Amino acid sequence: MARSWRHFQGETVSPRISVIGTGYLGATHAACMAELGFEVIGLDIDQNKINSLSRGELPFHEPELPELLLKHISTGRLRFTTSYKEIGAWADVHFIGVGTPQKSGEYAADMTYVDAATLSLAQHITKDSVIVGKSTVPVGTARRLRNLVAENKQADVSIGFAWNPEFLREGFAVKDTLQPDRLVVGVEETATEQVLRTVYAAAIADNTPFISTDFETSELVKVAANAFLATKISFINAFSEITESVGGDIRTLADALGHDLRIGRRFLNAGVGFGGGCLPKDIRALQARVSELGLERTMRFLSEVDEINLRRRDRVVHLAEEMAGPLGGKKIAILGVTFKPNSDDVRDSPALDVAARLFSAGADVNVYDPKGNANASKRFPRLNYVGSALESVSDADLVILLTEWSEFSDLLPIDLDHLVKAKNFIDARNVLDLATWRAAGWQIAALGHKFESEPAFASEMALS
Ligand code: UDX
Repeated sequence: MARSWRHFQGETVSPRISVIGTGYLGATHAACMAELGFEVIGLDIDQNKINSLSRGELPFHEPELPELLLKHISTGRLRFTTSYKEIGAWADVHFIGVGTPQKSGEYAADMTYVDAATLSLAQHITKDSVIVGKSTVPVGTARRLRNLVAENKQADVSIGFAWNPEFLREGFAVKDTLQPDRLVVGVEETATEQVLRTVYAAAIADNTPFISTDFETSELVKVAANAFLATKISFINAFSEITESVGGDIRTLADALGHDLRIGRRFLNAGVGFGGGCLPKDIRALQARVSELGLERTMRFLSEVDEINLRRRDRVVHLAEEMAGPLGGKKIAILGVTFKPNSDDVRDSPALDVAARLFSAGADVNVYDPKGNANASKRFPRLNYVGSALESVSDADLVILLTEWSEFSDLLPIDLDHLVKAKNFIDARNVLDLATWRAAGWQIAALGHKFESEPAFASEMALS
């Protein structure tokens, strides 16, 4: 893409960009800003991360990102540092993309990293510039940090402040950053807004809605979006509990609901529920924040959303027992441990949680995930991690599909028939054609479908 020279604070220059934090959000943002033609420095306090990024090695799986990283290390537009002094003297726009994880033992978000990054920036900035927060934060943070910057900056520099939440999805992070569906900017000064319009000129030229608003709205848009998505998933999963009890087909129900344009079909896939580094911690942080504000009732429904979500994991474990009998010594093949496909992320993964619970119940658990084995084995080293789906099902009493990678949804009974000990399958993501598997002699259960163990199996159980 051609370098775009634009008007920046009265001069015809292109703003230099720094991105603080080089996790999923920061690394993607840095590489995409370089792709848009800007000179970019990514900063992280972790020297090892900086060393590997500087060599073009990405410490996580994200489609398209390794190519962008290598491309712009070569063009010289993208480099990495651990020095706030360096970026403070060099960049015109500083994006903050560090994490806000859930605090240990609490629902609230841990603001240590965002606060530390903002303070370091304020103390090291030696030229007029703009700080733009991107992390997902409790409402009220931007205003607090704007004041922190004002109190700690050097007297002779002027620093603008804005909040610009990120909506990227893992697995689509590059696309979501280069072609966002909307840009939201919480900002108080026109000059600062203008800088953001310059940075996002390409997306604005593509007619991406640019919503300029106050700090609080910009912070709330992000948590509201994630709370809505989590609620939508738990909504269909609550109906799964009904169809599992009375009969009915959850997929048809979701399809029929989705035809109503006011509702829409997306995020109505019933299954083992949501996980990952965002949705679970964001709905908890929102509850914690509104409680602090004395509004605990307002978001109380989110605790139900969370509970419905966690009950899905119990349901898979119960189904495993119903199908395979007492779990002690049973060989169980787990297909997928990441929180969703096309990612290697196992943070708060429903799939990994179920695998670990089956192991704790005494099962012998074989795990295969196309990208997630390494991260999962760091968390649960005692599961057996194997190199392919077919290897995982060898001699299995039960196979459970927990993450809907396409290589699992494409499986056919004939692929597994001769490998397993017993033809028992749980489709915990609702992606297999149940009739096909039943016709091939498999006992198959899917979440959101009533499960009745087959007569032959029931009598076998009675004999044992
Ligand atoms: C989410 C938001 O979508 C994104 O906008 C925000 O910036 C970060 O959080 P991400 O965590 O990458 O993105 O995952 P997402 O695609 O939203 O999926 C979240 C979880 O919901 C996954 O575990 C997924 O398996 C689950 N899910 C999603 C369902 O169970 N059913 C669905 O229909 C959709």
